[in-house]
Amino acid sequence: MSHVTAQNHSEDTANFTWVPRAAVLAREAGAKLRDFLAKGVATEYKGDVDIVTIADRTVEAYLREALLTTFPSHGVYGEEGTRDRLEAEYRWYIDPLDGTTNFAHGFPHFAVSMGLEHRPPGLAAEHDGPIVAGIVYDPMRDELFAAERGKGAFLNGKPIHVSKVPELGEALIATGFPSRKRHDNPNIHFYQEFTLRSHGVRRAGSAALDLAYTACGRVDAYWEFKLNPWDVAAGFLLVEEAGGMITGFDGSYRRLESLEILASNQLIHHELLGLFRDIFAGRNLGPLPSPAEYAAHRMARHAVDQPEDSVDL
Ligand code: IPD
Ligand code: CA
Ligand code: CA
Repeated sequence: MSHVTAQNHSEDTANFTWVPRAAVLAREAGAKLRDFLAKGVATEYKGDVDIVTIADRTVEAYLREALLTTFPSHGVYGEEGTRDRLEAEYRWYIDPLDGTTNFAHGFPHFAVSMGLEHRPPGLAAEHDGPIVAGIVYDPMRDELFAAERGKGAFLNGKPIHVSKVPELGEALIATGFPSRKRHDNPNIHFYQEFTLRSHGVRRAGSAALDLAYTACGRVDAYWEFKLNPWDVAAGFLLVEEAGGMITGFDGSYRRLESLEILASNQLIHHELLGLFRDIFAGRNLGPLPSPAEYAAHRMARHAVDQPEDSVDL
């Protein structure tokens, strides 16, 4: 049975208000995910390829109880259905297992994500309050990313910053694809254009870690089309506190409820927005052979390379 305490982790010594207590819960949740992964879990379907496991549900139930006990005046809003004390001034958005598809396949890249929104009295229901604390915990690498507003972002207690890469041509980028209504999503076109113009695009399968990796400079930017508040609340603050920028694809202010997200090291944000404009308008797209053109070219090359009586494989 895994159990973790706050004492031996240096983020507890930082000048934080909520992170030290919430980090203990994130580490305990992560330990439970490791235990489930070791035992193996069955998968169920929420949508066509939208998977859920007992690990998602058990860890959300644990975090719900633990947050309500640790922060008795806070509310909790979770991916697997938790809606508690939503009238409270502080509200946690939790994703107990971000990267369920990876987890279900034994691909060791997933995280616990917890973001705290401050909703001052009088704030209209349709308005966001500021995210004031965020934690993304990767239990397989024992990496805890944490931030509080105005106090910086940290990885296992050490300050982190976005990269200094000045242009897309030198950048490594991350993206993700939704597991629902995949046929409504145009992201593969964007994936192609970004791949042709950068050092490459990674699709690692956890939005929370994509944002945490943007915050610590492992990738220089990240975009995705269809996300929920629990996917991004924590990572949003990590990126901002690490010196990065977050907007919609048109440069607009990004709300928690907005589906699309573009996060970057700030330095390449303008260039990325220009590329989004071009791709949406169908301008300056990178030339690629169609599969049929490629097949014809391949056949022609094959005919030249192979003597007439050789066996076709
Ligand atoms: C998913 C992951 C994935 C992203 C999907 C999310 P889940 O979250 O963050 O990287 O591409 O859009 O839904 O379902 O594993 O919690
Ligand atoms: Ca998620
Ligand atoms: Ca999830």
